Amino acid sequence: MSGDVPTGDDAVAVDSDTLILGIETSCDETAAALVMGGFDVVSSVVSSQIELHATFGGVVPEIASRAHLELLNPVIARAIVEAGVDERRIDAVACTVGPGLIGALLVGVSAAKALALAWDVPFVAVNHLEAHLYAALLDDPSMELPVVVLLVSGGHTLLVEMREFGHYRLLGQTIDDAAGEAFDKVARFLGLGYPGGPAVERAAMDGDPAAIAFPRAMRNDGLDVSFSGLKTAVMNHVRANPDVDTADVAASFQAAVVDVLVVKACRAAAEVGAVGLALGGGVAANSTLREAVLDACTADGLRGYLPSRSMCTDNAAMIAAAGWHRLRLDGPSALDVGATPNLRLASE
Ligand code: KG4
Ligand code: ZN
Repeated sequence: MSGDVPTGDDAVAVDSDTLILGIETSCDETAAALVMGGFDVVSSVVSSQIELHATFGGVVPEIASRAHLELLNPVIARAIVEAGVDERRIDAVACTVGPGLIGALLVGVSAAKALALAWDVPFVAVNHLEAHLYAALLDDPSMELPVVVLLVSGGHTLLVEMREFGHYRLLGQTIDDAAGEAFDKVARFLGLGYPGGPAVERAAMDGDPAAIAFPRAMRNDGLDVSFSGLKTAVMNHVRANPDVDTADVAASFQAAVVDVLVVKACRAAAEVGAVGLALGGGVAANSTLREAVLDACTADGLRGYLPSRSMCTDNAAMIAAAGWHRLRLDGPSALDVGATPNLRLASE
């Protein structure tokens, strides 16, 4: 593409040959990927900052921004080299503009705009939550709609109806803690380390999921969820029973989270007449949740779409995929679009 700086008014041909560079820096992963035609992942590079933050027991925003600054250029360069393409072949640059940590987001957004300007191609602003909805599609492009997507990440727990790509309806969400947040807080309380989800999952492998009957708040009621009371119940149980087996606590906590999520997701699918259930977000990497979703889909006659584990957690392939759909539907984003830390998913 050539000529003036692209704006939202420019018509852009978006098809199966359109190659998009995705950039993701919203939290503690610095990621870049090249995706062709909306789902063909040509390269995907993720540089995790986990070790930098582990000693603090969580993500330190200032450390995250500085690390993104150092890592982003090499990560983008590696994504281009691994794809084996010339950078002049890239048709657009898509980047997460929110939600996330403001300093971290700004590193990616500034780089994406600079590259779009230098290469004279469109810049596409991507909502990180919308991108998580596309993770399952990257592994199974034949996905049939409508689906209900259960998006379970560190900051969000959403049930979303996707009737067509680019159009969503929010069906339910957490009224307090996100599922990943509950895993992280329980892991910290049990001294299992950071990040909490994989640590709880590992501990739970040696435990009995039926050992402790933790509460399942709002299980039989609507499509919203609540995990704050469960987290408190875990703490109270451990304080009252100091000799309790940590593996049993982890397994019973995980069973309660998975039970509620699967019941709600199936209820949502039934209510909107979805043909399938898809997962997205970091908690979707959890094996117990994945097995329970597949079992429930078999029982309810639904198709289950599970992204590979590397596509569940933050990555830039899902950003490029969402960017392909946004570019097709809306055209390029204006270059004055800023980073929005508390960006929401647009629900219709
Ligand atoms: O989607 P993600 O990588 O980043 C956000 O957008 O938040 O999700 C991170 C969250 C963290 O809370 C992490 O503990 C959780 O996903 N997580 C898991 C697992 N792997 C990551 N939770 C449960 N089981 C896992 N295997
Ligand atoms: Zn995420």
